[in-house]
Parts: sequence; C-alpha cells; structure tokens
Amino acid sequence: MTVTPVKPPTSVKHEVKDLALAAEGKKRIEWAGREMPVLRQIRDRFATEKPFEGLRLVACCHVTTETANLAIALKAGGADAILIASNPLSTQDDVAASLVVDEGISVYAFKGEDTETYLRHVNIALDHKPNIIIDDGSDVTATLIKERQDQISEIIGTTEETTTGIVRLQAMLNDGVLSFPAMNVNDADTKHFFDNRYGTGQSTLDGIIRATNILLAGKTIVVAGYGWCGRGVAMRAQGLGANVVVTEIDPVRAIEAVMDGFRVMPMAEAAPVGDIFITLTGNKHVIRGEHFDVMKDGAMVSNSGHFDLEIDLGALKGKATEVTTVRNFTEEYHLKNGKSVIVLGEGRLINLAAAEGHPSAVMDMSFANQAMACEYLVKNKGELEPGLYPIPTEVDKDIATLKLKAMGLSVDELTPEQVKYMNSWTEGT
Ligand code: ADE
Repeated sequence: MTVTPVKPPTSVKHEVKDLALAAEGKKRIEWAGREMPVLRQIRDRFATEKPFEGLRLVACCHVTTETANLAIALKAGGADAILIASNPLSTQDDVAASLVVDEGISVYAFKGEDTETYLRHVNIALDHKPNIIIDDGSDVTATLIKERQDQISEIIGTTEETTTGIVRLQAMLNDGVLSFPAMNVNDADTKHFFDNRYGTGQSTLDGIIRATNILLAGKTIVVAGYGWCGRGVAMRAQGLGANVVVTEIDPVRAIEAVMDGFRVMPMAEAAPVGDIFITLTGNKHVIRGEHFDVMKDGAMVSNSGHFDLEIDLGALKGKATEVTTVRNFTEEYHLKNGKSVIVLGEGRLINLAAAEGHPSAVMDMSFANQAMACEYLVKNKGELEPGLYPIPTEVDKDIATLKLKAMGLSVDELTPEQVKYMNSWTEGT
C-alpha cells in the first residue's frame, strides 16, 4: 500500500478542494515542467533578477500543471501572486493543492465551482490589490474597470491570453474605458500558431475522446469557425479519419477551408449531416434551436471556444423532456421530437473540462510570452499609454529561438551576399 504523506496545515490563504492531493499535483507539475524548457530558463533568470520584487500579481487562468509552472516562475521573480480559475470546470484540484502546500502560492479554485463562487474569487483576487493582472478571457480586467475604479492607479498593466479576451479589451479601448496598458499575448506568433492551432487541435479531440470513448474515423465532424483553433481541430480530426465540415462567416477563411480539403456550408445545412459538432468561434448561439430540430438522433455537441455560450443550451433545455448523465461530461437531452442530442462538458471548453487542456510543449511558449509580457510591463512602467500592445517581435523571436534550441534544432543564417541582396532593388532578371 502506498501512503501519501499529508503536509501540515498551511497558513497560505486558499480555497481548494483538498490539500491532501498536493503530492500527486507536485509530481504532475514536475512532469509538465519537463516539456517547458523555455519557461524554465525564464524562471531561472527571474530567480536571480527578481523583476517582480514588491509587486502584487493576480493570475486568472486555467489552473493546470502548465499554469502552475508559470506561477512558480512568477514567484521566483519575486511576485506576490494569487491564482484564480478562469473557468469553473478547468481546475486540476491536485495542482491547486500543490501550489498552496508546496509553493506557498494562494489559490482560489476548485473543479466544479459555480458562477457565484467564480465571481466571488474574482473579487478576492481584486482584494489582493494587484499591480499586474494576467487574464484569460478578461474577466478580472473587466470587473476592475466596472467595479473598482479606485484601484486603477495601482495597476501597471494587464496581459491577455486568449482571442475572446483580446476582443473584449479592444471593445474596452473603443469605449474609452481601458485606462492602462494591456499586452496582447494571444497574437504573438509563438502563441497562436502553436497553442491555438496544435494545442486546441489535439486537446479538443482528446477531450471528446476521453468523455465519450468513441471512434472518430468515419464520423462527420462539423467544425464551427476556421480561426487558428478551428484550423487545428479540423486538421487533426481529418488526420483521425473523420469527414470534416467547416462552417464560417468569413468568406476568405471559408475559401481557405475549402482549399485545405474540407466541405464548407452554413450551419443550417451542416446540422442534419453532422455526427459531432465542435464550436470554436468566440461568438454566441452558433448552434441554436433551429439546428437542434434537424440534427440526427444521438448527435453530439461540444464547445472549445472560451465561453459556454456558443451552444444555446437554454433552447435545447426547452426542447427536452429529460436530461440523463450517460458518462462523466456526457449528458443526453431527450427531445420532444423523439430524438436525443448529447452535450459534452456542459458546453464548456471540452479540452479543459474532460481532458487536461493544451499539452505542456505548446503552453511552454504561451506562458513564456506571459512571463515576458509581465516583465515588459514592469520595465516600461509609466512609459506606456493606455492601449493594447503586441508582444515585441524580438521577444517572439527569442522565444522561438530558445524553443528550437531546446528541441535540438537550428536554422540557417543569411550570408553577407544574401543580406546585400535582400536590401537592394537593383538586381533582377
Ligand atoms: N489553455 C488551454 N490549455 C491550457 C493549459 N494546459 N493550461 C493553461 N491554460 C490553457
């Protein structure tokens, strides 16, 4: 019999499921860390340079093994950090426990928290009086602006992880309410090309498979949205033998999907042919009443976009006589028309609800960007006007170079002749 050592009670403030899970969490955090060499190097540098000494930081992220490695790096850099969940279903409870017990980091997050608890945690995070906010979806930043104007003078800036959060920050900027700098981590090349595409591609299918244990080969999978996330999911679903249908609102992306080899059609046409639906649009009610009406009996719907509003579950409930839980994260809605529709992960991010989110190797680059963005804000404190800032190209390139090196790969350098050629216009045919 293995005996799990339970650490003594901690004075670190927290609201997690069970501190006794810490030992398991620590092992998994270390395992993920093996695939995060870039973040590790940043952590080691932070440990000597202490860029965040004396600063309070709030991170509202999915509490996963990868986020734990980011939190450890920020703490090594001197940050007084507090972590809350950015989604009610994405917290890994053993990770939350280990951060409290082994790392002394305050965590307010547990898997299955309700909306009221989630909002209470956002307020606890703001009570920490942050100087820096790391957001994933922009909830902490939006709450600060709506409800805590008195704290804004203490803010150095915010960093945003995801497309949905960037859209919200842009709306805040347009409305003239964003009164501090915000770093756009999502649009760094070393973030969205890898995390959004390969990370979402793999982890979304991982979530669907873990929830259902079904074979994807031969199924018709409808991918709503052909941004970087949709591209990744479509590519990987095709690789597993599915017939992929893409729905889009953007004509250019639709052509790209066609030329990538997928069928493109509106959701109204896709609804009766799909076996599995995956939404990744960032918009609301992409699958709604009229679509449920014509779906095949047993069709499965899931979401891998940030918020749980892409599937109109209210409309589905209105059509159902009964909802039964078939397996974890798999609920069957028995409809009045005699058919059933199966909802995976309650319509929340299926990759984090039913699986473990993006693999560490891609989060390595995403969170290297987060760490560097926080450092950039501190280094440029007082210099940046309110606004949305891209990650500097040099930072993006440095992260790519470190990642490549860690992979044991290298690239060519331009010869002096090539440099000269690239800078001239006189040479031609
Ligand atoms: N977003 C998607 N996957 C994630 C992960 N593994 N950790 C943190 N945030 C994520």
